[in-house]
Formats: sequence, C-alpha cells, structure tokens
Amino acid sequence: MNLPPGTLTRLSARKDRHSHAEPDRVRMQHLALDLTLDFAAKVVRGTATVRFVRPDPQAPLVLDTFGLAIEAVTGADGKPRAFVVGKEDPALGAPLTVTLVGSDAEVTVRYATTARAEALQWLAAEQTRDRKQPFLFTQGQSILTRSYIPLQDSPGVRITYEARVKAPPGITVVMSAEQLGERDGGFAFRMKEAIPPYLIALAAGRIEFAKISDRAGVWAEPSLVKSARDELEDTEKMIAAAEALFGPYRWGRYDIIVLPPSFPFGGMENPRLTFATPTILAGDKSLVGLVAHELAHSWSGNLVTNATWSDFWLNEGFTSYCEQRIMEQVFSPERSNLEKTLARTELVRELGELEPWQEVLHVELDKRHPDTAFSSVPYVKGSLFLQRIERAYGRDKFDAFLRGYFDDHAFQSITTGDFVAAYQKRLASAAPEIARTIDLNGWLLGTGLPDDAPTSPSTGIAEVDAALAQWASGKPAASLVTNGWVTQQWEHFIQSLPADLSLARLTELDKTFKFTRSGNSEILTDWLVVAIRTGYKPAMPRLEEFLLGVGRRKFLKPLYAELAKTPEGLAWARALYVRARPRYHAVAVGTIDQLLSWKPSGAPS
Ligand code: BES
Ligand code: ZN
Repeated sequence: MNLPPGTLTRLSARKDRHSHAEPDRVRMQHLALDLTLDFAAKVVRGTATVRFVRPDPQAPLVLDTFGLAIEAVTGADGKPRAFVVGKEDPALGAPLTVTLVGSDAEVTVRYATTARAEALQWLAAEQTRDRKQPFLFTQGQSILTRSYIPLQDSPGVRITYEARVKAPPGITVVMSAEQLGERDGGFAFRMKEAIPPYLIALAAGRIEFAKISDRAGVWAEPSLVKSARDELEDTEKMIAAAEALFGPYRWGRYDIIVLPPSFPFGGMENPRLTFATPTILAGDKSLVGLVAHELAHSWSGNLVTNATWSDFWLNEGFTSYCEQRIMEQVFSPERSNLEKTLARTELVRELGELEPWQEVLHVELDKRHPDTAFSSVPYVKGSLFLQRIERAYGRDKFDAFLRGYFDDHAFQSITTGDFVAAYQKRLASAAPEIARTIDLNGWLLGTGLPDDAPTSPSTGIAEVDAALAQWASGKPAASLVTNGWVTQQWEHFIQSLPADLSLARLTELDKTFKFTRSGNSEILTDWLVVAIRTGYKPAMPRLEEFLLGVGRRKFLKPLYAELAKTPEGLAWARALYVRARPRYHAVAVGTIDQLLSWKPSGAPS
C-alpha cells in the first residue's frame, strides 16, 4: 500500500487524549440516570449509576467530570465508596476516581450540575417561540457530556443507557432514546444500542409531536410544529433512500426536534432524535439537506463511530458523502452537484485561512480541544476523498464497499487505520493498478486540497455565473433571468459579488431581490457579510436583529469575523455582543469570544 512506513500505526492510535478514563482497565458499559430538572435554579441533579467491566481488577474506576458537584458515591450495596476529584484541566475537566471494592460491577454517583455546565442551555420562556414555558436542551459533542453526567466521555467507549427524568408540569422531556412514557412521576427512556457518550441528549420544554410516517415525526413548540412537519415531510423518503444505499436503519424511530433559535448548530445527530435549528425552515424545503446529513449519521457516526477526535473526518466526511447521495436520490443529481460545488468553494476559501495542522484529515490534536479543528476540512475534504475513490473504482464497487464498511464495523468505534484496512481489503487489493493512482498519504495526512479532488459541474451554477457576468457588464439587476433560482444559487450569486460595490449598485440589488428582508438565514447571512464588507448601512438594523435572535455558530462566525475587520465594526460588534452573549450557547460564546478578543469579565482586551 502506498503509505510510508509507520504511518498505518499512527493512523491506528486508539488512545483518546480527551478523556481521563482508562477504559482498558475499567470500562463502562451501561448508564442509568435518575435526574430532576430544576428550571428555577438552572441545575440538573440526581444520580448516575455506572455499570462496568474490569479487565484490570486492581484498577479504580475513572470517570470524566466538568464542573460537577459530586455529593456521594455508593456501591450496589448502598455503602459509600472512596472517591477523589482530581486536578481540573481547563478543557478536559477533572477525573473522578472511585476506589472499587470486592467484585463491584456498578457504582452510583449522586451529583448536581453547576453554572459551568457547557452542555446545557437553559432558556427563559421569553427566549422560546411561544413564550409560555422555559426550555432546556443539551449538546454533548465533542466533550461536553461530562459537564452534566459523570461518565467515561470518550467516543471509543460505547454504552447503553436508561433514564428517568423529572420536570415541572407543562414540560415534556425527550431524549436520544426510546420513549417509555411517564413512570413514577418522570419521563422514562431506554437506549438499547451501544452508543458513544456524546450522543446522549435531552431536550425539555413545551413541545408537541406531529407525525410524518410510521417511524418518523417532528417535535417542536406548538405554534411551529405543523409547518415544521410540512417542511420536513420528505424525511421518510430520505430514510428509505438511505436504507437502499447503506443498509437497514437500525435505530427504530427517526424523529427531529426543532429547537429554539439559540441552538448553536444546524443539526446534531442524536440517535432516534435529531436536534435541529429552526433556521432550516426556509418555507421551500431548500435547506432540508441538513436532515439528509443528520440522518446519514445514523450510519456514519452513530453506527460506525470515530474512535478518537483525530478521526472526526470518519464521522463528518462519510456523512457529507452519504448526505450527497441521499440528496441525489430524493431530489436530483443537479441539486446534489449544486450543493457539492458550494461546499467545495467554501472549503477552498477556508483553506486560505486555516493553519496547516487544521488542513489535515487525520488531525494531530495532541492536547488541543477537538473543537479547534472544526472547519470544512473533515466535512468537505473528507467527502471529496470518498468521491475520488468512488470515481476511481466506479459506483457499484464503491457502494458495495460502503455497505461492507458499515456492516463490518456496526456499533464499533474505529480509527482512520481501520478505514485504510477496510479500503485495502474491499477495494484496493482487487485492483492494485487503480490503488496506485490514489495518494492515500497525501489525502489523509497532507495539507491543502489534492489536485485530483473531484469537481461536480452544475447547470444551476453556470446560470448564476452567466447572470453575474451580465450584471458586471452593466445590465440592470431587474433584467437578469433569475426565476426559479433555488437558495444555493442565490448563495453562489451573493458570494461571487465583487469585493467593492458602490452604494448605488448595492441598493439596486437589494431593491430588486430584497436580500435584507430575506427570511432565509443562509441567504441573509451571505448578504449581511457583503453589507458589512461594503458598508451598506440600510442592512444594519436587520443585522442587529439577526445577531440578537439567532445563535447558530455557522451564521454568527462569518458576521462577527467580518465586523472585526475594521475598528468601527469591531466596536459596534462588541457593543452588540454585550446584549447578545447571554442569549448564546456556550459553544457559540467560545468561538465569538475569541473572534472579538472578549475577556470573560466583559471587558474587551
Ligand atoms: N455532528 C455535527 C455537529 C457537531 C460537530 C457538533 C462537532 C459538535 C462538534 C452535525 O452533524 C453537523 O455537522 N451539523 C452541521 C450541519 C451539516 C448539514 C453540515 C451544522 O450544524 O451546521
Ligand atoms: Zn455532521
């Protein structure tokens, strides 16, 4: 194989540097939660019972915690066990080490969360759409689960779980698990498949359910649930398409909860229950690619999981590839090509700004926080790598490889080295002359985008380029042929505008296409970036409203970054951020603090 000596060993490292746990000595297998949600105090409290096996009978149990108040640890006999909370690492939190006695196979930790629980976002009723009840949601990925549950928080450790969660009247609790209804005054759940801990998730608020099919549906606040259902009605078609491509859907139900707008991501693939931002509800189904993406994680990510965060591209690169295949199947090759082209353009743009280590698929994290490697690289470079392999061997062979890859590694956590072995076994060994043409080492460990990265020509992109050329040559915006354009075409249009535009031409565009008033947050964000860059003042009130109303990091980041490029913009951004920051999730706050050089005290540095 064309990998230099020693490389496969490096790609196969299973040690997780982002967990204190020592699963080779004592390994967690099951978690039972008994929790109460205290909305007034913004605290989750109760017990976590951890069941484990002990390859090393002498070793203590080591769990991850972050800012948890540990009250007691007891054995199955109800008697206390000695424990110590070790030194806290600022990113990883503190190890909770429990001395085990005799043949202990489980312990129960009584604990409460603190204000430092970054996985939790507590929303006041006013921060929800219907303004009737408060809301809580969790975000575990990458290493935040430990801030509300003491456990072995490593993607290489797979567990089943059960939970009982008590909440105030009027609040419904859902989790990334099978719902068992209400029991003993709480909502009961059970996840029978072994999942990595970052996929444990909970949401609680005034929510209702609307059915899409026998196995799919939507949760949302009452005033949104019907329109959300209609927008997401193609979900069942997507599941069917995905099963035909990748093998059976192994999780039972597939529901989606549409969260309040402060959710920091577009979507999160929590098993059986994708968490989604309301900003995907554009009214025309143009942003449902996100559902295809989160659904695809039911195979790549949830079924076959990255063993360490250095292998994150296995989750997101495979998922982006599978998302494109679903979109092609359910909609059209053109739609998929359009989305691929947009994603590739964004990757190339980001590669101009990233540090070399961030450009590598198998990323060297060392002690760096996994989130510092977050970019288009694992997603888009990863999926381009798989497209490259697909084109080399042909789709039939590649599809067989995918099926085999998912079956062989189902419910396992694997390394990039395991991927290389699967590729070798199922594709390369039968066709060495093709294998020689693909530079595995360059793709997996090189910086930049390899020269053989595929492109996906799109007629929709060509139409937009033609219109842009006409407009650049002086034709009025109103005369451009734009009817039938979809969101992604408008995005390409706005992103391709020249860096310097006169106020007259900006005004003309805005009058003609109503960008400032767009209810589509992808289009709006692209336009607001242009408005900031060119100093187009009429868009500023809308920018303010958007930054105060939406907490999705993908939108906040380019807007604050563009503002931070000039002294006046930075001052304006910081003034606004004072008000906006308390509304954002910790994940978004982390990113924007850095962009604005914000000191936690509130004083800009
Ligand atoms: N699993 C990710 C979100 C994530 C990644 C959370 C890393 C925390 C750490 C999710 O599947 C995702 O990729 N979401 C994207 C949407 C997608 C269509 C590219 C997002 O949130 O924008
Ligand atoms: Zn993803």
